[in-house]
Amino acid sequence: MSTIILGIESSCDDTSAAIVSDGLLLSNVIASQKVHEAYGGVVPELASRAHLQNIVPVVSEAIRQAGIRRQDIDAIAFTRGPGLPGSLHVGTSFAKGLALALDVPLVDVNHLHGHVLAHFIRETPDQPVPEFPYLCLLVSGGNSQIILVESACSMKILGQTIDDAAGEAFDKCAKVMGLPYPGGPVIDQLAAQGDPTRFKFAKPHIPELNYSFSGLKTSFLYTLRDNIKLNPDFIEQNKAHLAASLQKTIVDILMDKFAKAVKLTGVKTIAIGGGVSANSAVRAAVADYARRHHLTAFIPKRVFTTDNAAMIAIAGMFKHLAGEHCDVTAPPFSRVTI
Ligand code: KG4
Repeated sequence: MSTIILGIESSCDDTSAAIVSDGLLLSNVIASQKVHEAYGGVVPELASRAHLQNIVPVVSEAIRQAGIRRQDIDAIAFTRGPGLPGSLHVGTSFAKGLALALDVPLVDVNHLHGHVLAHFIRETPDQPVPEFPYLCLLVSGGNSQIILVESACSMKILGQTIDDAAGEAFDKCAKVMGLPYPGGPVIDQLAAQGDPTRFKFAKPHIPELNYSFSGLKTSFLYTLRDNIKLNPDFIEQNKAHLAASLQKTIVDILMDKFAKAVKLTGVKTIAIGGGVSANSAVRAAVADYARRHHLTAFIPKRVFTTDNAAMIAIAGMFKHLAGEHCDVTAPPFSRVTI
C-alpha cells in the first residue's frame, strides 16, 4: 500500500496544494497572486483574502490532477510557519478541517524544511535524491542560511545572515533602480546582457559562516547617487551592467561562506533551495563549484525553488513516516527557525 500525502502551502502570496504518493509527485497546483504587483510588495491583508478564494479550488484541482479520491489521502501536511500570520491561518485552518473530516493525521511542516527537502520530490521513480548528510544553501526573500542536513528530521544552521537576506538585496537594489517587484528575476534577466566587472560593490567581512548584505545595499545606493549627480541618465544607460555587477557580488558573497562550510564539514553532497536558487548565476556557481571539487550538486527545478506545496508534502511525508503528527489545536507560527 502506498502512502499518499496532501500538502498545503499558504505562507506568503502563493496558494498551493500537492499530492505525493510514496515520494512520487502526482500533482502540484500553484495559484500565484497578481494583486500585489501594483503595490511593489506583498500586502498581507490582500494575500489572506486571495488565499481564502483560492484554497478550495486549488486543493480540489490537486486531487483531481493526481487521479485519486479524497478518501485515498493518508495524511495532510501544511505549512505552519514561518510566514504571514493571516496567510498561514487560511492554510492551517483548511488543513485542520479537512483532516478532521477525513479522519486522517495532520502533519505540521516548517516552510524552511520544505525548501531544504525539495530535492526529495521525485517526478519519476528513478530520479536520484541526495544522500545524508548534505549541505544546503537556503536563499530566499527572508532567509540566507547554510544548513547541515543530517537527516530529514535533523538539521543544523551553520551560518545565516545577520541583517538582510540575499533576496532582499536583489529586491531592494532593483527597487532603487526603478525596476518592478520582485526584483530578483528582473536583475537575473538584465544581468545576462551586462558586464559583471563594470562596478565594484562592498563585500562584508564578518566572522564565521554568517552573511551580511546591508553593506552591499548601501554601497550600491552610493554608486547610484554619486553617478546620477554627474549623469541623470546613469541608471538607464547602465541598467544591465549594474544588474550584472550586483548579481556577481551577491553570488561571490554566498559562495565564499558556502565553500568554507563545505571544507569544514567535509560533505560530499551540496544543494540549494529557496527563491534565489532560481537565479542563473547562483545555479551556475554551485554547479561549477561541485564539478571542480568532485561533489554531487542538487539544483532544484525552478518550479520547486519558489513556494510550492510539493515540498511541503515531501517534508510532511518524512514526518508522517516517523510518526510525528500534530494536534488540531496547533496554531501557526509567523516566525520559526530550523
Ligand atoms: O523563497 P521565496 O519564494 O519566498 C520568500 O522567502 O519570500 O523567495 C522570493 C525571493 C525574492 O526575493 C525574489 O526576488 C527572489 O526570491 N528570486 C530571485 C530569482 N527568482 C526569485 N532572485 C534572483 N534571481 C532570480 N531568478
